[in-house]
Amino acid sequence: MAAIIFIQPDGTRQSVQGVVGKSVMEAAVRHNVPGIDAECGGSCSCGTCHVHVRDEWSGRLPPKSADEEATLDCAFGVLHDSRLSCQIVFREELDGLVVHL
Ligand code: FES
Repeated sequence: MAAIIFIQPDGTRQSVQGVVGKSVMEAAVRHNVPGIDAECGGSCSCGTCHVHVRDEWSGRLPPKSADEEATLDCAFGVLHDSRLSCQIVFREELDGLVVHL
């Protein structure tokens, strides 16, 4: 099982199964991860799937698209490591991916 690990602001960890070809947001929603509302359903327009991906993982992700950057510009609590989880497509190589909320 390829895992995605979500870490809440209080340090609570939740490991869920990632599905190759599906987004990290979809895995979060499927497993009721708190803090991932995904109001737009993954169309990169709401920012409610915002997560932080630390440096040890961010280099393995494709760069942000212009659309992702634009939506993050309007999101709350954006840092240099911010990503939209609906724009991260899970792959086997991302097994163990850690994302922070
Ligand atoms: Fe809306 Fe990701 S689900 S921007």
